[in-house]
Amino acid sequence: MKRSRSSLVHQLTYAVKNPRKILPHLRRLVRDMWFRLHTRDHVAYYRAVMRSDTARDPEGAVGSHTHRRWLALGRMQFDYLVEHGLKPECRMLEIGCGNLRAGHLFIGYLHTGNYYGIDISPDILVAAQDTIVTYGLADKVPYLTPVRDLRLGFLPDAHFDVVHAHSVFSHSPLDVIEECFAHVGRVMKPGAWFDFTFDRTEGKEHQVLREDFYYRTETLVALADRYGFDAAFMDDWERLPHKQSKLRLTKCASA
Ligand SMILES: C[S@@+](CC[C@H](N)C(=O)[O-])C[C@H]1O[C@@H](n2cnc3c(N)ncnc32)[C@H](O)[C@@H]1O
Repeated sequence: MKRSRSSLVHQLTYAVKNPRKILPHLRRLVRDMWFRLHTRDHVAYYRAVMRSDTARDPEGAVGSHTHRRWLALGRMQFDYLVEHGLKPECRMLEIGCGNLRAGHLFIGYLHTGNYYGIDISPDILVAAQDTIVTYGLADKVPYLTPVRDLRLGFLPDAHFDVVHAHSVFSHSPLDVIEECFAHVGRVMKPGAWFDFTFDRTEGKEHQVLREDFYYRTETLVALADRYGFDAAFMDDWERLPHKQSKLRLTKCASA
């Protein structure tokens, strides 16, 4: 069983094994304290994290520290979704689209106007516009919209075939995930699905600073059930070179 990353023993063991990571972690710790003091809630906090990270490097801000890795992570998400049902005619909502690491491939593949990306960070959405220019995707008319919550009130009923959120709930407390589950069903067409990744722990649920959140699968499955979703654990995703796990939600027949 994995030991909680928030435990002091884990942190000390990790520091001894990875001395070069001590300084960057201390910097994160100081930044965490500063943002906690100066932001009112989690979304404002994480928006500040993204502002600071995007100013340094937009690709690093979404978790890829080399361009090669950015391309590979985007490709991995895209290939998986195409192998698991994404068709060019689908209408897709990407929650936490970042600077379109996978989004640029989705936009190129989907019919014009069928991609809708939302994010809490205006800074990363400006970087996403740069990605659209770099990949010559303006003619596909992708929508990119900043949001302050996941109530999705500005989106129409039963509109999307596919909802996708990669590496977003790994940065979200449970109330943010619950807000999403409570509202996302309304914008999904009958038969639509919602794929998301999460940092899975088999031990105690925990968080590192306010940036990284670790959940047990059964917590998210039970929460999804409460909002009328069936959840499938995507076993074949586990074989890919990625640390997070993936769940697919579909609306229960009775919902
Ligand atoms: C690690 S990045 C991943 C970006 C993109 N999904 C990808 O795979 O490249 C996480 C993104 O989710 C966004 N995000 C975090 N919490 C969010 C929330 N509650 N609602 C919408 N976006 C959120 C962040 O601003 C950031 O752009």
